[in-house]
Amino acid sequence: KKLAVMLSGRGSNFVAIAETIASGALQGCHIDVVLSDKPDAPGLEEARRRGIDTMVCARRQYASKQEWEQAMIDGLQARNVDFIILAGFMRILGEGFINAFPRRILNIHPSLLPSFIGLDAQQQALDYGVRYSGCTVHFVTNDLDAGPIIVQKVVPVLPADDAAALSRRILEQEHVAYSEAIALVVAGKYEIQGRRVLLK
Ligand code: GRF
Repeated sequence: KKLAVMLSGRGSNFVAIAETIASGALQGCHIDVVLSDKPDAPGLEEARRRGIDTMVCARRQYASKQEWEQAMIDGLQARNVDFIILAGFMRILGEGFINAFPRRILNIHPSLLPSFIGLDAQQQALDYGVRYSGCTVHFVTNDLDAGPIIVQKVVPVLPADDAAALSRRILEQEHVAYSEAIALVVAGKYEIQGRRVLLK
């Protein structure tokens, strides 16, 4: 299966997935391209170092959001990618993009959804005072951070935590969770029933 990873920044989730594949796990699947909306995203450099193709579609290069999304759709469809992996892609994708790849887009969010959607989920968790948080890998639908859940990992929130400390603890689990989720969907051993992803 061909994966496309979309990112805007650091790319540690991308690197974790690339390393899982390099280790021989996730057999039969490879990262075909890394697409970024930020020409200077450090994650792009990580891709180049690994000899993985990169593509940049900066929002400002296009007159409208629709044209920007169409350029990305065209680029990804030309490559025949099977799954699109959002890994720190910091722009909200519209219906046009999401409907072009039904049930083929995955996202990771640094909270236990449905809690704390949107930006700064780790700070939201601290502010709320929850004792546990974590991360969620889910299918992307037109509702923000609300698609069917594939994998979740839980971490404790400790008394001394600030957002950076909690983010680090969650990120470690993100790196495990994403490869697990990709293994499940690539193997096709699931069925989506309503909101639920049932494993077969
Ligand atoms: C992660 O915390 C992810 O959950 C969020 O953005 C961050 C991306 O980190 N959506 P990285 O670029 O993969 O290091």
